[in-house]
Amino acid sequence: MIHVLFVCLGNICRSPMAELIFKKLVQERGVRDRFSIDSCATSGYEVGNPVYPPALRTLRAHGVEGNHTARRITPRDLAQNDYVLVMDEENLRAVNRLAQANERGKIRKLCSFTDRPRDVADPWYTGDFERAYADIREGCAAFLDFVLQD
Ligand code: 4NP
Repeated sequence: MIHVLFVCLGNICRSPMAELIFKKLVQERGVRDRFSIDSCATSGYEVGNPVYPPALRTLRAHGVEGNHTARRITPRDLAQNDYVLVMDEENLRAVNRLAQANERGKIRKLCSFTDRPRDVADPWYTGDFERAYADIREGCAAFLDFVLQD
């Protein structure tokens, strides 16, 4: 089993979008049962809340189903996951602060797997949920190709 955790600041926009998009991609590739897939926040701001409605609408417009309840990352998440995929530099710093030295190699920016490594800009601030969707979709597809190569 490959344990994948997506992480962003609030866990109501980007990381649950990544979780649900990645679940759909692995389903389509016929490898859903090889993965455990979850998402969480670096902050406690939105704990207990569902996916932010504009993010959910964007997912639905692209045929992505499911929902998620926001929760905050714990040290156990770092111990138990194989890949901890963050959205931006701020998330990377926050998660690295929480990680043991031997866990840091698991932590990567999602779009580092693409041909054009970049941050996923936070649509909570930009308002651009389509941009976030496209970046996350590309990152998830590139990560899936990477992880299935082994
Ligand atoms: P996310 O977006 O990190 O993509 O889930 C945010 C959602 C909420 C807040 C910040 C970012 N907030 O400050 O409540």
